[in-house]
Amino acid sequence: MDYLEIVGGKKLSGSVTISGAKNAALPIIAATILSDKALTLTNLPNVVDIRTLLKLLSMLGASVDHNETTAHINNGFINSTKAVYEIVSQMRASILVLGPLLARFGECEVSLPGGCAIGQRPIDLHLKALESMGAHIEIKGGYVRAEAKEGLKGAKIIFDKITVGGTENIVMAAALAHGTTTIVNAAKEPEVVQLCEMIRDAGVKIEGIGTNELSIEGTAGKTLAFKPVEIIPDRIEAGTYLCAGAITYSSITLHKVNCGHIRATIDKLESMGCSFDLKEDSITIHPASKLKPVNLITIEYPGFPTDMQAQLMAVAVIAEGESLIEERLFENRFMHVSELNRLGADVWLKGSTAAVKGVQKLYGADVMATDLRASSALVLAALVAEGTTNVRRIYHLDRGYDDLEGKLSKLGADIKRKREA
Ligand code: EPZ
Repeated sequence: MDYLEIVGGKKLSGSVTISGAKNAALPIIAATILSDKALTLTNLPNVVDIRTLLKLLSMLGASVDHNETTAHINNGFINSTKAVYEIVSQMRASILVLGPLLARFGECEVSLPGGCAIGQRPIDLHLKALESMGAHIEIKGGYVRAEAKEGLKGAKIIFDKITVGGTENIVMAAALAHGTTTIVNAAKEPEVVQLCEMIRDAGVKIEGIGTNELSIEGTAGKTLAFKPVEIIPDRIEAGTYLCAGAITYSSITLHKVNCGHIRATIDKLESMGCSFDLKEDSITIHPASKLKPVNLITIEYPGFPTDMQAQLMAVAVIAEGESLIEERLFENRFMHVSELNRLGADVWLKGSTAAVKGVQKLYGADVMATDLRASSALVLAALVAEGTTNVRRIYHLDRGYDDLEGKLSKLGADIKRKREA
């Protein structure tokens, strides 16, 4: 298995280009099932999760021509509606094919996604909403079998909790339904917005894009013709590199960024003493003279994103004073704490809150990645730990970060990918 060998203590400088957003690309790839015509997606991130979902489409019979950042897809050739366990178990976001497959073909079988390190990750809200649109749902043998022979019908859906994937699945299902679907308490993350815009640009009437209430007028089973889509920049990758600048007290510039999507992260790093120059699609971070502690709560967009919690914690680990970090979205998203403490951090957990006592120094050690964002937090801490840190199980990183070690090396970090003997 690969691991990253990082020698800490290096200042960073220069600039890095942010890739397309994994969490925008995944629902958009799933949404292409709503069309039986060829279409092109550009600015895809070159990461494992994208390759996994495109492989799933191919297994369903689609024609997929994919180079690193561009995919030409034609779902006119789909001849199966069964998303099998071996793919879905690799990436739980495969559940996003449930809505479009059911809407287009009137039936499908999708393996129940496993949980993952950060939590149980249920899909009860997805299924309840589809049932209210007339779907018959049965769970058998680890598969969700869904049927709507006469097609789905528009419904009023009120989500008990804001769910990004649930909103995306229902928006896609509603696009081909008979009648209008309203979603109350919808997610409004930028990735949900781009999905809605793609479907609206294919002629589906959608009101409320970017708000917590969506109304979608379905085409009554008529498939869509999508315009080419360029994936929006990855706001979490951008936030991660801002944290790299903050933690190493370096000034670096990020290109191809939507600054409006990372305001909560900028705000927290500003409160810690960093400053920023924002341009049209780039941002430069200037380091604090001495990092101050921070208090944060993760919450749905536009609040502070749960996907940035581990990275901000890494920065807080070397701040001067105590920070409090409360994780409100996932029940087990502190797997990085024990690994950060192996590097000399002083983080204590009490329920869903972490108390981070700033320390003067971190010391290199062997640490283990447990999930995608936790692994990036370990890399950030390793950049400032004295000596060498080996971050193992970086297959987690490869799922969602496009060439992390290449981009950090370009900024001046001493980081190498190695293979365990
Ligand atoms: C998306 O996951 C992202 N993944 C996650 O990013 C992100 O952390 C999460 O949204 C929150 O922003 C993708 O977009 C592919 P949710 P998703 O449904 O859709 C509960 C990363 O690092 N819930 O908004 O699965 C759920 O347990 C990943 O890139 C139910 O209870 O998240 C959680 O507590 C990690 N029942 C909360 O809602 C349901 O039916 C939010 O989950 C669905 C969700």
